[in-house]
Amino acid sequence: MKKALITGVTGQDGAYLAEFLIKRDYEVHGIKRRSSLINTSRIDHIYQDLQEENIRFKLHYGDLTDSSTIIRIIQEIQPDEIYNLGAMSHVQVSFDNPEYTTDVNAMGTLRVLEAVRILGLTKKTKIYQASTSELYGWVQEVPQNERTPFYPRSPYAVSKLYAYWITVNYREAYKMFAVNGILFNHESPTRGETFVTRKITMGVARIALGLQEKIYLGNLDAQRDWGHAKDYIEAMWLIMQQKRPEDFVIATGVTTKIRDFVEMSFSEIGIEIEFFGMGVDEKARVTNCNNPDFYIEPGKEVVAVDARYFRPTEVDLLLGNPEKVKSKIGWYPKNRLQDLVKDMVWSDIKAATKEQHIRGNIAGY
Ligand code: NAP
Ligand code: GDD
Repeated sequence: MKKALITGVTGQDGAYLAEFLIKRDYEVHGIKRRSSLINTSRIDHIYQDLQEENIRFKLHYGDLTDSSTIIRIIQEIQPDEIYNLGAMSHVQVSFDNPEYTTDVNAMGTLRVLEAVRILGLTKKTKIYQASTSELYGWVQEVPQNERTPFYPRSPYAVSKLYAYWITVNYREAYKMFAVNGILFNHESPTRGETFVTRKITMGVARIALGLQEKIYLGNLDAQRDWGHAKDYIEAMWLIMQQKRPEDFVIATGVTTKIRDFVEMSFSEIGIEIEFFGMGVDEKARVTNCNNPDFYIEPGKEVVAVDARYFRPTEVDLLLGNPEKVKSKIGWYPKNRLQDLVKDMVWSDIKAATKEQHIRGNIAGY
Protein backbone atom coordinates (compact mmCIF):
# COMPACT_ATOMS: atom_id res chain seq x y z
CA MET A 1 0.00 0.00 0.00
CA LYS A 2 1.43 3.37 -1.05
CA LYS A 3 1.59 6.17 1.52
CA ALA A 4 0.81 9.76 0.59
CA LEU A 5 1.25 12.89 2.67
CA ILE A 6 -0.82 15.95 1.80
CA THR A 7 -0.09 19.44 3.16
CA GLY A 8 -3.19 21.64 2.91
CA VAL A 9 -5.50 18.65 3.31
CA THR A 10 -8.31 20.81 4.72
CA GLY A 11 -8.32 22.98 1.57
CA GLN A 12 -10.33 22.56 -1.61
CA ASP A 13 -7.72 20.51 -3.49
CA GLY A 14 -6.35 18.65 -0.48
CA ALA A 15 -9.77 17.27 0.40
CA TYR A 16 -10.55 16.11 -3.15
CA LEU A 17 -7.09 14.60 -3.46
CA ALA A 18 -7.34 12.72 -0.15
CA GLU A 19 -10.63 11.15 -1.26
CA PHE A 20 -9.17 10.32 -4.69
CA LEU A 21 -6.08 8.61 -3.21
CA ILE A 22 -8.05 6.61 -0.63
CA LYS A 23 -10.14 5.23 -3.52
CA ARG A 24 -6.86 4.17 -5.17
CA ASP A 25 -5.84 2.22 -2.07
CA TYR A 26 -3.35 4.69 -0.66
CA GLU A 27 -2.82 5.22 3.05
CA VAL A 28 -3.34 8.97 3.23
CA HIS A 29 -1.86 11.33 5.81
CA GLY A 30 -2.78 14.98 6.01
CA ILE A 31 -1.18 17.93 7.78
CA LYS A 32 -3.68 20.18 9.48
CA ARG A 33 -3.11 23.46 11.32
CA ARG A 34 -4.54 23.85 14.77
CA SER A 35 -7.59 26.14 14.73
CA SER A 36 -9.82 27.37 17.54
CA LEU A 37 -12.89 25.97 15.78
CA ILE A 38 -12.91 22.70 13.85
CA ASN A 39 -12.40 23.50 10.15
CA THR A 40 -12.49 20.02 8.63
CA SER A 41 -15.85 20.27 6.85
CA ARG A 42 -14.27 19.33 3.49
CA ILE A 43 -12.81 16.07 4.86
CA ASP A 44 -15.36 15.06 7.51
CA HIS A 45 -16.83 12.43 5.17
CA ILE A 46 -13.50 10.54 4.98
CA TYR A 47 -12.38 11.09 8.57
CA GLN A 48 -11.76 7.95 10.64
CA ASP A 49 -11.60 7.83 14.43
CA LEU A 50 -8.21 6.79 15.77
CA GLN A 51 -9.94 3.90 17.55
CA GLU A 52 -11.09 2.33 14.26
CA GLU A 53 -9.20 -0.57 12.73
CA ASN A 54 -7.40 -0.38 9.37
CA ILE A 55 -7.11 3.38 9.40
CA ARG A 56 -6.54 4.68 5.85
CA PHE A 57 -6.75 8.40 6.56
CA LYS A 58 -4.89 10.10 9.37
CA LEU A 59 -4.48 13.76 10.32
CA HIS A 60 -1.34 15.23 11.91
CA TYR A 61 -1.09 18.65 13.49
CA GLY A 62 1.58 20.70 11.76
CA ASP A 63 2.34 23.93 9.98
CA LEU A 64 4.50 24.75 6.99
CA THR A 65 6.25 27.44 9.06
CA ASP A 66 7.43 24.81 11.58
CA SER A 67 10.27 22.79 10.09
CA SER A 68 10.89 20.51 13.07
CA THR A 69 7.32 19.24 12.93
CA ILE A 70 7.48 18.80 9.16
CA ILE A 71 10.65 16.71 9.57
CA ARG A 72 9.12 14.63 12.37
CA ILE A 73 5.93 13.88 10.43
CA ILE A 74 7.81 12.91 7.27
CA GLN A 75 10.18 10.72 9.29
CA GLU A 76 7.26 9.01 10.99
CA ILE A 77 5.29 8.34 7.79
CA GLN A 78 8.11 7.74 5.26
CA PRO A 79 5.72 8.70 2.46
CA ASP A 80 6.05 7.50 -1.13
CA GLU A 81 4.42 10.70 -2.37
CA ILE A 82 4.13 14.18 -0.87
CA TYR A 83 1.63 16.64 -2.31
CA ASN A 84 2.60 20.12 -1.09
CA LEU A 85 -0.72 21.91 -1.44
CA GLY A 86 -0.59 23.96 1.77
CA ALA A 87 -0.42 27.70 1.09
CA MET A 88 -1.72 31.13 1.90
CA SER A 89 -3.53 30.93 -1.42
CA HIS A 90 -5.47 34.21 -1.67
CA VAL A 91 -3.84 36.71 -4.04
CA GLN A 92 -5.56 39.80 -2.59
CA VAL A 93 -4.75 38.78 1.00
CA SER A 94 -1.08 38.33 0.04
CA PHE A 95 -0.84 42.11 -0.47
CA ASP A 96 -1.93 42.55 3.16
CA ASN A 97 0.24 39.73 4.59
CA PRO A 98 3.26 39.53 2.26
CA GLU A 99 5.79 38.28 4.81
CA TYR A 100 3.59 35.49 6.14
CA THR A 101 2.66 34.51 2.57
CA THR A 102 6.34 34.19 1.70
CA ASP A 103 7.11 32.19 4.82
CA VAL A 104 4.38 29.62 4.13
CA ASN A 105 4.50 29.42 0.34
CA ALA A 106 8.20 29.87 -0.41
CA MET A 107 10.01 28.79 2.77
CA GLY A 108 7.35 26.15 3.44
CA THR A 109 8.17 24.46 0.15
CA LEU A 110 11.88 24.58 0.95
CA ARG A 111 11.16 23.05 4.37
CA VAL A 112 9.38 20.08 2.77
CA LEU A 113 12.15 19.53 0.21
CA GLU A 114 14.87 19.85 2.84
CA ALA A 115 13.08 17.45 5.19
CA VAL A 116 13.08 14.78 2.49
CA ARG A 117 16.75 15.41 1.75
CA ILE A 118 17.85 15.49 5.41
CA LEU A 119 15.97 12.27 6.12
CA GLY A 120 17.70 10.48 3.24
CA LEU A 121 14.42 9.92 1.40
CA THR A 122 15.44 11.47 -1.93
CA LYS A 123 15.22 8.14 -3.76
CA LYS A 124 11.97 7.03 -2.10
CA THR A 125 9.75 10.09 -1.76
CA LYS A 126 8.28 11.94 -4.75
CA ILE A 127 7.19 15.54 -4.25
CA TYR A 128 4.43 17.42 -6.04
CA GLN A 129 4.57 21.23 -5.76
CA ALA A 130 1.34 23.19 -6.25
CA SER A 131 2.55 25.77 -8.72
CA THR A 132 0.22 28.24 -10.34
CA SER A 133 -0.75 30.17 -13.45
CA GLU A 134 -0.30 33.30 -11.29
CA LEU A 135 3.41 32.88 -12.13
CA TYR A 136 2.62 34.19 -15.63
CA GLY A 137 1.07 37.36 -14.15
CA TRP A 138 1.63 40.06 -16.72
CA VAL A 139 1.50 37.49 -19.47
CA GLN A 140 4.37 37.46 -21.93
CA GLU A 141 2.46 35.37 -24.48
CA VAL A 142 -1.02 33.99 -25.07
CA PRO A 143 -1.75 31.16 -24.44
CA GLN A 144 0.75 30.25 -21.70
CA ASN A 145 2.67 26.98 -21.75
CA GLU A 146 5.58 25.37 -19.85
CA ARG A 147 8.12 27.58 -21.67
CA THR A 148 6.32 30.92 -21.26
CA PRO A 149 8.45 33.35 -19.17
CA PHE A 150 7.08 34.22 -15.73
CA TYR A 151 6.15 37.76 -14.60
CA PRO A 152 4.53 37.47 -11.14
CA ARG A 153 2.26 40.34 -10.07
CA SER A 154 1.59 39.79 -6.35
CA PRO A 155 3.42 38.72 -3.17
CA TYR A 156 1.55 35.41 -3.57
CA ALA A 157 2.86 34.90 -7.10
CA VAL A 158 6.40 35.94 -6.16
CA SER A 159 6.40 33.46 -3.26
CA LYS A 160 5.21 30.74 -5.64
CA LEU A 161 7.99 31.68 -8.07
CA TYR A 162 10.55 30.78 -5.39
CA ALA A 163 8.70 27.55 -4.67
CA TYR A 164 8.67 26.67 -8.37
CA TRP A 165 12.41 27.20 -8.82
CA ILE A 166 13.50 25.56 -5.57
CA THR A 167 11.55 22.48 -6.66
CA VAL A 168 13.35 22.48 -10.02
CA ASN A 169 16.66 23.04 -8.23
CA TYR A 170 16.22 20.09 -5.83
CA ARG A 171 15.24 17.90 -8.77
CA GLU A 172 18.43 18.82 -10.61
CA ALA A 173 20.80 19.01 -7.63
CA TYR A 174 19.71 15.87 -5.76
CA LYS A 175 18.05 13.89 -8.57
CA MET A 176 14.80 13.94 -6.65
CA PHE A 177 11.42 13.20 -8.21
CA ALA A 178 10.16 16.74 -7.53
CA VAL A 179 7.65 18.23 -9.96
CA ASN A 180 5.58 21.35 -10.51
CA GLY A 181 1.99 21.22 -11.65
CA ILE A 182 1.35 24.71 -13.06
CA LEU A 183 -2.37 24.69 -12.48
CA PHE A 184 -4.68 27.33 -13.86
CA ASN A 185 -7.69 28.36 -11.74
CA HIS A 186 -9.84 25.45 -10.68
CA GLU A 187 -13.04 25.70 -8.74
CA SER A 188 -15.76 23.53 -7.23
CA PRO A 189 -18.69 23.67 -4.81
CA THR A 190 -16.13 23.60 -1.96
CA ARG A 191 -14.07 26.50 -3.31
CA GLY A 192 -13.19 29.05 -0.61
CA GLU A 193 -15.96 31.62 -0.26
CA THR A 194 -13.78 34.67 -1.03
CA PHE A 195 -12.55 33.48 -4.43
CA VAL A 196 -14.53 35.15 -7.16
CA THR A 197 -16.41 32.15 -8.61
CA ARG A 198 -17.71 30.99 -5.24
CA LYS A 199 -18.49 34.53 -4.16
CA ILE A 200 -20.63 34.80 -7.30
CA THR A 201 -22.41 31.43 -7.07
CA MET A 202 -23.14 31.92 -3.36
CA GLY A 203 -24.38 35.43 -4.09
CA VAL A 204 -26.63 34.24 -6.93
CA ALA A 205 -28.16 31.53 -4.73
CA ARG A 206 -28.68 33.83 -1.75
CA ILE A 207 -30.18 36.60 -3.90
CA ALA A 208 -32.53 34.07 -5.54
CA LEU A 209 -33.74 32.98 -2.08
CA GLY A 210 -34.06 36.49 -0.70
CA LEU A 211 -31.10 36.19 1.70
CA GLN A 212 -28.86 38.81 0.04
CA GLU A 213 -29.46 42.01 -1.94
CA LYS A 214 -26.40 42.34 -4.17
CA ILE A 215 -23.00 40.95 -5.08
CA TYR A 216 -20.17 43.50 -4.83
CA LEU A 217 -17.24 42.71 -7.12
CA GLY A 218 -13.96 44.23 -8.28
CA ASN A 219 -12.51 43.93 -11.78
CA LEU A 220 -15.25 42.47 -14.01
CA ASP A 221 -13.00 42.32 -17.07
CA ALA A 222 -10.29 40.00 -15.74
CA GLN A 223 -10.21 36.72 -17.64
CA ARG A 224 -9.50 33.31 -16.17
CA ASP A 225 -9.06 29.79 -17.52
CA TRP A 226 -11.38 27.97 -15.10
CA GLY A 227 -11.53 24.20 -14.70
CA HIS A 228 -13.14 21.82 -12.20
CA ALA A 229 -10.97 20.91 -9.19
CA LYS A 230 -11.99 17.23 -9.47
CA ASP A 231 -10.36 17.00 -12.90
CA TYR A 232 -7.23 18.84 -11.76
CA ILE A 233 -6.65 16.51 -8.81
CA GLU A 234 -6.41 13.60 -11.20
CA ALA A 235 -3.82 15.52 -13.22
CA MET A 236 -1.69 16.02 -10.07
CA TRP A 237 -1.68 12.30 -9.42
CA LEU A 238 -0.92 11.42 -13.04
CA ILE A 239 2.07 13.78 -13.09
CA MET A 240 3.43 11.88 -10.06
CA GLN A 241 3.02 8.50 -11.78
CA GLN A 242 5.25 9.36 -14.76
CA LYS A 243 8.66 7.70 -15.21
CA ARG A 244 10.50 11.03 -15.46
CA PRO A 245 9.90 14.03 -13.19
CA GLU A 246 8.61 16.88 -15.37
CA ASP A 247 6.59 20.05 -14.95
CA PHE A 248 3.19 20.35 -16.61
CA VAL A 249 0.64 23.09 -17.32
CA ILE A 250 -2.88 22.01 -16.37
CA ALA A 251 -5.60 24.13 -17.98
CA THR A 252 -8.72 23.94 -20.13
CA GLY A 253 -7.56 26.18 -22.98
CA VAL A 254 -10.66 28.40 -22.64
CA THR A 255 -10.73 31.80 -20.94
CA THR A 256 -13.76 33.70 -19.67
CA LYS A 257 -14.40 37.16 -18.22
CA ILE A 258 -15.66 37.53 -14.65
CA ARG A 259 -18.77 39.34 -15.97
CA ASP A 260 -19.58 36.33 -18.19
CA PHE A 261 -19.25 33.99 -15.22
CA VAL A 262 -21.77 36.21 -13.39
CA GLU A 263 -24.21 36.05 -16.34
CA MET A 264 -23.82 32.28 -16.66
CA SER A 265 -24.46 31.78 -12.95
CA PHE A 266 -27.71 33.78 -12.93
CA SER A 267 -28.76 32.18 -16.19
CA GLU A 268 -28.31 28.70 -14.67
CA ILE A 269 -31.41 29.36 -12.53
CA GLY A 270 -33.38 31.15 -15.26
CA ILE A 271 -32.48 34.74 -14.39
CA GLU A 272 -31.20 36.96 -17.21
CA ILE A 273 -29.20 40.09 -16.39
CA GLU A 274 -27.63 43.02 -18.21
CA PHE A 275 -24.65 45.18 -17.23
CA PHE A 276 -24.90 48.96 -17.50
CA GLY A 277 -22.77 51.96 -16.47
CA MET A 278 -19.00 52.31 -16.60
CA GLY A 279 -16.00 51.67 -14.36
CA VAL A 280 -16.72 51.86 -10.63
CA ASP A 281 -20.33 52.83 -11.46
CA GLU A 282 -20.99 49.67 -13.42
CA LYS A 283 -23.89 47.53 -12.21
CA ALA A 284 -26.06 44.66 -13.40
CA ARG A 285 -29.85 44.41 -13.27
CA VAL A 286 -32.35 41.64 -13.90
CA THR A 287 -33.99 41.79 -17.34
CA ASN A 288 -35.99 38.60 -17.32
CA CYS A 289 -36.87 35.88 -14.84
CA ASN A 290 -37.99 32.52 -16.25
CA ASN A 291 -38.09 30.55 -13.04
CA PRO A 292 -41.10 30.89 -10.73
CA ASP A 293 -39.12 29.22 -7.90
CA PHE A 294 -36.64 32.10 -7.83
CA TYR A 295 -38.68 35.08 -8.95
CA ILE A 296 -36.83 38.40 -9.02
CA GLU A 297 -38.54 41.56 -10.25
CA PRO A 298 -37.01 42.76 -13.59
CA GLY A 299 -35.04 45.96 -13.01
CA LYS A 300 -33.66 44.87 -9.63
CA GLU A 301 -29.94 45.63 -9.34
CA VAL A 302 -28.06 42.50 -8.33
CA VAL A 303 -24.39 43.31 -9.00
CA ALA A 304 -22.32 46.42 -8.26
CA VAL A 305 -18.63 47.27 -8.44
CA ASP A 306 -16.77 48.06 -5.23
CA ALA A 307 -13.28 49.47 -5.81
CA ARG A 308 -12.09 47.85 -2.56
CA TYR A 309 -11.84 44.59 -4.49
CA PHE A 310 -9.47 46.04 -7.11
CA ARG A 311 -5.90 44.74 -6.74
CA PRO A 312 -2.78 46.93 -6.57
CA THR A 313 -1.43 44.96 -9.55
CA GLU A 314 -3.87 42.82 -11.50
CA VAL A 315 -3.45 39.71 -13.63
CA ASP A 316 -5.73 40.61 -16.55
CA LEU A 317 -5.69 37.48 -18.63
CA LEU A 318 -4.84 33.83 -18.05
CA LEU A 319 -5.23 31.24 -20.76
CA GLY A 320 -3.37 27.95 -20.54
CA ASN A 321 -2.15 25.65 -23.28
CA PRO A 322 -2.58 22.07 -21.98
CA GLU A 323 -1.01 20.48 -25.09
CA LYS A 324 1.91 18.85 -23.24
CA VAL A 325 -0.20 17.07 -20.64
CA LYS A 326 -2.68 15.98 -23.33
CA SER A 327 -0.06 14.49 -25.59
CA LYS A 328 2.29 13.02 -22.95
CA ILE A 329 -0.16 11.82 -20.32
CA GLY A 330 -3.50 11.81 -22.08
CA TRP A 331 -5.13 14.07 -19.47
CA TYR A 332 -7.88 16.41 -20.56
CA PRO A 333 -10.59 18.20 -18.51
CA LYS A 334 -13.85 16.26 -18.39
CA ASN A 335 -15.94 19.20 -17.17
CA ARG A 336 -16.68 22.25 -19.27
CA LEU A 337 -17.21 25.68 -17.69
CA GLN A 338 -20.97 25.21 -18.06
CA ASP A 339 -20.77 21.98 -15.99
CA LEU A 340 -18.73 23.75 -13.32
CA VAL A 341 -21.21 26.63 -13.08
CA LYS A 342 -24.09 24.17 -12.79
CA ASP A 343 -22.34 22.17 -10.06
CA MET A 344 -21.48 25.27 -8.03
CA VAL A 345 -24.77 27.16 -8.41
CA TRP A 346 -27.00 24.21 -7.48
CA SER A 347 -24.81 23.27 -4.54
CA ASP A 348 -25.13 26.85 -3.27
CA ILE A 349 -28.89 26.85 -3.89
CA LYS A 350 -29.06 23.79 -1.62
CA ALA A 351 -27.00 25.53 1.07
CA ALA A 352 -29.03 28.73 0.81
CA THR A 353 -32.30 26.77 1.07
CA LYS A 354 -31.01 25.23 4.30
CA GLU A 355 -30.04 28.68 5.59
CA GLN A 356 -33.51 29.96 4.68
CA HIS A 357 -35.16 27.13 6.66
CA ILE A 358 -32.98 27.80 9.70
CA ARG A 359 -33.84 31.51 9.55
CA GLY A 360 -37.51 30.60 9.12
CA ASN A 361 -37.40 28.33 12.17
CA ILE A 362 -35.70 30.99 14.28
CA ALA A 363 -38.30 33.54 13.19
CA GLY A 364 -41.01 31.00 14.05
CA TYR A 365 -39.92 31.08 17.68
P1 NAP B 1 -7.08 26.46 -0.25
O1 NAP B 1 -8.46 25.93 -0.38
O2 NAP B 1 -6.88 27.87 0.17
O3 NAP B 1 -6.30 25.50 0.77
C1 NAP B 1 -5.05 25.85 1.28
C2 NAP B 1 -4.66 24.85 2.32
O4 NAP B 1 -3.39 25.23 2.87
C3 NAP B 1 -5.63 24.75 3.51
O5 NAP B 1 -5.72 23.42 3.95
C4 NAP B 1 -4.92 25.59 4.56
O6 NAP B 1 -5.26 25.26 5.89
C5 NAP B 1 -3.48 25.20 4.28
N1 NAP B 1 -2.51 26.11 4.88
C6 NAP B 1 -2.51 27.45 4.88
N2 NAP B 1 -1.48 27.93 5.58
C7 NAP B 1 -0.82 26.85 6.05
C8 NAP B 1 0.31 26.69 6.88
N3 NAP B 1 0.98 27.74 7.38
N4 NAP B 1 0.72 25.44 7.19
C9 NAP B 1 0.05 24.38 6.71
N5 NAP B 1 -1.03 24.45 5.94
C10 NAP B 1 -1.47 25.70 5.61
O7 NAP B 1 -6.28 26.28 -1.62
P2 NAP B 1 -6.59 25.31 -2.86
O8 NAP B 1 -7.44 26.05 -3.81
O9 NAP B 1 -7.00 23.99 -2.35
O10 NAP B 1 -5.15 25.24 -3.53
C11 NAP B 1 -4.22 24.22 -3.15
C12 NAP B 1 -2.82 24.65 -3.58
O11 NAP B 1 -2.79 24.85 -4.98
C13 NAP B 1 -2.36 25.95 -2.96
O12 NAP B 1 -0.97 25.85 -2.77
C14 NAP B 1 -2.64 26.99 -4.03
O13 NAP B 1 -1.76 28.09 -3.90
C15 NAP B 1 -2.36 26.18 -5.28
N6 NAP B 1 -3.12 26.55 -6.48
C16 NAP B 1 -4.46 26.65 -6.44
C17 NAP B 1 -5.15 26.93 -7.60
C18 NAP B 1 -6.66 27.05 -7.63
O14 NAP B 1 -7.18 27.61 -8.60
N7 NAP B 1 -7.37 26.50 -6.64
C19 NAP B 1 -4.45 27.10 -8.82
C20 NAP B 1 -3.07 26.96 -8.82
C21 NAP B 1 -2.40 26.66 -7.65
P3 NAP B 1 -6.57 25.91 6.63
O15 NAP B 1 -7.74 25.10 6.15
O16 NAP B 1 -6.23 25.72 8.05
O17 NAP B 1 -6.64 27.34 6.19
N1 GDD C 1 -11.55 37.27 -5.02
C1 GDD C 1 -12.17 38.19 -5.77
N2 GDD C 1 -13.21 38.87 -5.24
N3 GDD C 1 -11.74 38.39 -7.05
C2 GDD C 1 -12.42 39.29 -7.79
C3 GDD C 1 -13.50 40.01 -7.30
C4 GDD C 1 -13.91 39.81 -5.96
O1 GDD C 1 -14.85 40.42 -5.46
N4 GDD C 1 -13.97 40.80 -8.29
C5 GDD C 1 -13.20 40.58 -9.37
N5 GDD C 1 -12.25 39.67 -9.06
C6 GDD C 1 -11.19 39.22 -9.98
C7 GDD C 1 -9.79 39.34 -9.40
O2 GDD C 1 -9.31 40.67 -9.49
C8 GDD C 1 -9.04 38.36 -10.31
O3 GDD C 1 -8.67 39.00 -11.50
C9 GDD C 1 -10.10 37.30 -10.65
O4 GDD C 1 -11.36 37.85 -10.25
C10 GDD C 1 -9.92 35.96 -9.95
O5 GDD C 1 -9.74 36.19 -8.55
P1 GDD C 1 -9.74 34.96 -7.51
O6 GDD C 1 -10.95 34.13 -7.70
O7 GDD C 1 -9.49 35.54 -6.17
O8 GDD C 1 -8.53 34.05 -8.00
P2 GDD C 1 -7.05 34.41 -8.48
O9 GDD C 1 -7.01 34.18 -9.96
O10 GDD C 1 -6.59 35.70 -7.97
O11 GDD C 1 -6.20 33.28 -7.74
C11 GDD C 1 -6.64 31.93 -7.71
O12 GDD C 1 -6.12 31.24 -8.82
C12 GDD C 1 -4.69 31.11 -8.86
C13 GDD C 1 -4.34 30.37 -10.15
O13 GDD C 1 -4.28 31.25 -11.21
C14 GDD C 1 -6.15 31.31 -6.39
O14 GDD C 1 -6.74 30.03 -6.23
C15 GDD C 1 -4.65 31.17 -6.36
O15 GDD C 1 -4.26 30.42 -5.19
C16 GDD C 1 -4.21 30.39 -7.62
O16 GDD C 1 -2.83 30.25 -7.65
